[in-house]
Amino acid sequence: MSEFPPINAKLPVIWYGADYNPDQWLDRPDILAEDIRLMKEAGCNVLSVGIFAWSRLEPKEGVYCFDWLDRIFDSFEANGLYINLATPSAAYPLWLAEKHPEIVRVDAHRRRLRGRTRDNYCWTSPAYRKEVGRMDAELARRYAHRQNLVLWHVGNEYGGECHCELCQNAFRNYLKNRYNDSLDAVNKAWWTSFSSHLFTDWSQIESPSPVGESSIHGLNLDWRRFVTWQACQFIENELNSIRLFSANVPTTTNLTLGPDLDPYKIGSLFDVTSWDSYPTYHSPVGNIEVAEHQALLSDLTRAIKPNRPFLLMESTPSITHSQWAKLKRPGMHQVASLLMTALGSDSVMHFQWRKGRGGLEKFHGAIIGHDGDSRPRTFQEVKALGKTLQGLSDVVGSLVQPQAAVVFDWENRWALEDARCLTGSRSYWFDFVHPHHKAFFELGVATDVISQDMPVDSYKLISAPVLYLVKPGVAEKLKKFVRNGGTLILTFWSGIVDDSDLCYLGGAPGPLRELAGIWVEEIDTLYREDTNALRPCSGNALHLVGSFPVKTYCEVIHAEGAEVLAAYESDYYAGLPALTVNKYGKGKVYYLAANADAAFLNPFYARIALEAQIPFAVDGILPPGLIAKRRHANGTDFLFLLNFEHEPKSFDFGSERWIKLESHEVLSGTHSIPPYGAFVLKKVSS
Ligand code: GLA
Ligand code: ZN
Repeated sequence: MSEFPPINAKLPVIWYGADYNPDQWLDRPDILAEDIRLMKEAGCNVLSVGIFAWSRLEPKEGVYCFDWLDRIFDSFEANGLYINLATPSAAYPLWLAEKHPEIVRVDAHRRRLRGRTRDNYCWTSPAYRKEVGRMDAELARRYAHRQNLVLWHVGNEYGGECHCELCQNAFRNYLKNRYNDSLDAVNKAWWTSFSSHLFTDWSQIESPSPVGESSIHGLNLDWRRFVTWQACQFIENELNSIRLFSANVPTTTNLTLGPDLDPYKIGSLFDVTSWDSYPTYHSPVGNIEVAEHQALLSDLTRAIKPNRPFLLMESTPSITHSQWAKLKRPGMHQVASLLMTALGSDSVMHFQWRKGRGGLEKFHGAIIGHDGDSRPRTFQEVKALGKTLQGLSDVVGSLVQPQAAVVFDWENRWALEDARCLTGSRSYWFDFVHPHHKAFFELGVATDVISQDMPVDSYKLISAPVLYLVKPGVAEKLKKFVRNGGTLILTFWSGIVDDSDLCYLGGAPGPLRELAGIWVEEIDTLYREDTNALRPCSGNALHLVGSFPVKTYCEVIHAEGAEVLAAYESDYYAGLPALTVNKYGKGKVYYLAANADAAFLNPFYARIALEAQIPFAVDGILPPGLIAKRRHANGTDFLFLLNFEHEPKSFDFGSERWIKLESHEVLSGTHSIPPYGAFVLKKVSS
């Protein structure tokens, strides 16, 4: 497939809008009317409505107040605006918690929280599922056939966990199912002979707690799996209730991609994936670093549902709620938003349309501020972006189609971040996954970000940094991938534990040892001040020359059939392999034993991508700060050139001819892309 139909045929353009809370302004019809006028002026076409509106939709049990929402649908319809209608499950009304105290979450300390009304409900409570199902079905029955309903926004940023008795029992049942009713199997999988942890009755098993058990890694891991599984059951209940009356309107939820729930499992329940992106541009780490983080999470969100676009559900037009509220500099909102489009988003949505007068988010970035004026720069930039996006309708449904993938697996994340190993504080995604993804990002090589469970057949190259936990069947899948001609990059600290978090016996990297053709004797964790270096062997097949610093992690490895491409420069393991390649079937496996930075990873991945014949977005080296991305649709190529820096960047199209979508200007030869500027182009067929 080379093109996907629009998310909803009613709105075959790039979706543009925001979270909209008319429920906070019901006593100000003048403001609601002004909202419509300004939305049209800004070029908005769809708004997300009702996300936390339960107490306005049903202020008392069974007393529905849908009239205000009816009026929103009516006025939107009269003005050509569409609605992404939310289920209000993320925030129950207080009367519901008073009626059913069991719906309120219990924290890991076993304290039942007070009825605070956001992201604070029990995943298991039958009463809450029933009430949510009832409310969702009411909404679906009433609004499914509205001309301007285009999407269901189910829940909001699902996350967190509950430790109540209902959840404890559900956890035990989950374990009985997973371990075929055998407590013996649980004891084995969790290595409970450690510190006298043997369980002799199911009732002794409880969720991990800072005031109780937290030292059994297998238990911790199974708890995390259970929480995701239970959240999926909760979500299925919402989806079933909606589909009773609204089977044909697509569904999504806005993923947070935080550590607590496995986004691959949550996202796959929906028709279209979406996520909320809150980058902190203009911070000391640099814009490319920030942009790459957003790209990584977009590549993940998109890959959950392959061969279709995703949606950017929230982004701030100005400031975030992070520690520093630095304003986006002129132009940054445009380039940051177009990066999402370049990566496959068919929307640019904001949080929030209008700043409320009170509450936690009254100063959070918004399209309309407390002045209610359209003159501020933020509004004017949102309006300009709306105009730009109107010119990009051809891009709708086009695909990214990466031939390379980076593995970022949540079960690996949970296990790795729980383990007492390596340095005391480390983050799988920040320290290990993102440097590898960043090399591809800067090179202009499209990547999916995938879990270890996902199919790999559509890729030519897979990078799986620090694949510490290897699940059953994964080594076999990777062997098949390489045997058939794929290129695999593995790094230090891989193949260490199985899916119960039990260490593999017989030498690292466990089930990947034969594939990598090496044996890991031990890993050295260096102090921050220490360095070693990796020196490519002369005449190595990748043509790498020089000396590249390596920091923090150095494995002492021995080749077992693999060819040595680089060796350590110093310390007692000087001369031992630091980088190897193993020919396996028709493919190759690279093993990088040490923690190298961009100075090595960029040329390394450039050579490997060339060797594996992976397409680059553009020929030649891009100037630093300029990012190139492509989307494809039925023989049409779209090119996005995005300048994340404050200086203009020069780009040479050579003899190729490209049309700028916004202005229809035809470009070839050398052009200058202004500071924070973006070109979106369509190739002129030769
Ligand atoms: C999240 C929520 C929004 C809002 C924003 C603020 O993304 O989904 O409702 O609270 O954070 O940044
Ligand atoms: Zn619970």
